[in-house]
Amino acid sequence: MTILVTGGAGFIGGNFVLDWCGVTDEPVVNLDKLTYAGNLETLAPLREHPGHTFVHGDIGDRNRVEQLLTRYTPRAVLNFAAESHVDRSIHGPGDFIQTNIVGTYNLLETVRSYWHGLSSANRKEFRFLQISTDEVYGSLSPSDPAFTETNRYEPNSPYSASKAASDHLVRAWHHTYGIPVLTTNCSNNYGPYHFPEKLIPLMIVNALAGKTLPVYGDGMQVRDWLYVKDHCRAIRRVLEAGEPGETYNIGGWSEKTNLEIVHTLCALLDALRPKPDGCSYKRQIIFVADRPGHDRRYAINARKMEHALGWKPMETFETGIRKTVQWYLSNPEWVQNVQSGAYRAWVTKQYGDAG
Ligand code: NAD
Ligand code: TYD
Repeated sequence: MTILVTGGAGFIGGNFVLDWCGVTDEPVVNLDKLTYAGNLETLAPLREHPGHTFVHGDIGDRNRVEQLLTRYTPRAVLNFAAESHVDRSIHGPGDFIQTNIVGTYNLLETVRSYWHGLSSANRKEFRFLQISTDEVYGSLSPSDPAFTETNRYEPNSPYSASKAASDHLVRAWHHTYGIPVLTTNCSNNYGPYHFPEKLIPLMIVNALAGKTLPVYGDGMQVRDWLYVKDHCRAIRRVLEAGEPGETYNIGGWSEKTNLEIVHTLCALLDALRPKPDGCSYKRQIIFVADRPGHDRRYAINARKMEHALGWKPMETFETGIRKTVQWYLSNPEWVQNVQSGAYRAWVTKQYGDAG
């Protein structure tokens, strides 16, 4: 048996593949386009691993994916590949439409034809797992209950709209063609190998470099945070025992304002890597213009994962964020490697002089 993972050189896909190879002998084929967000450095620990095969390619390339499916006959396809950064989707939605919608459509079509050719027993056992986000549900007010699987999709950013569209395609390919699909909607992840354009790694990297810590608007937007390895464990559980056609909300029961996050990071860095001048990293915080259409609050009700599949997060925010800061302190080479010219161009575009 083999699984095919797409986007496995990115943050969550990379963590997933590393974990997978640590807990099972089942081979994994890893298809990734290596956009700015894909980093082979993340997969360096697997260089000699016989169960891991990396393939450079696009989920939208039907010939390439068809060849892979024919050659490796996976029992499951896990679709992590996506353009994933909201701010980039605001500056240029085109890539999001192309990969998240058109790419997923092409992947589904290639998988459909492969799936048809399987024996009836293998067709029944096959799974297509779509890794999605809580952002498809839109924004909550402070008193609203957390998102459940029955919440309406009300995406507000080009990123979340493109993910919503791809989730709808996945759903339709199940209802119309019978492909056994599973969809997970997860909250904000954090942990090792997180590209430093997202809130938590950006703040750590900027703090250590003596740069400003740019908080959008009033910093009172709320996100639910989940340690990435808990997400990987949840995905393995859904793959193992999820009901085809069902969706599963995954979250950390850990709502925080952005300002709380930045203060926590500064306090951890003050303790673990005090500044030579004795000042707190908090002094580097600045408030910058808000993100257009900025969703105010996301919150996940993960009871279904707990009741139906027996999954709960193992890390608290306090344990997970400490591990994360320690990882960034111990892995400056990884950070340096991903800070290419393209990364610097993005920082200048988004933050101007404040970057
Ligand atoms: P990421 O941007 O770090 O990684 C995406 C990966 O996909 C990269 O390695 C990139 O090279 C690859 N990729 C992009 N376009 C591709 C294409 N056309 N073909 C093949 N590979 C391609 O993203 P991430 O944070 O790891 O997110 C992974 C998935 O999880 C995404 O689908 C995202 O929507 C979802 N998700 C992310 C979060 C989060 O907090 N990061 C939360 C919930 C859900
Ligand atoms: P981000 O990590 O981009 O994830 P998402 O937008 O998918 O939730 O951002 C998390 C929150 O942090 C979001 O409310 C925007 C905010 N933010 C800042 O305040 N400053 C920053 O420099 C970044 C990147 C994000």
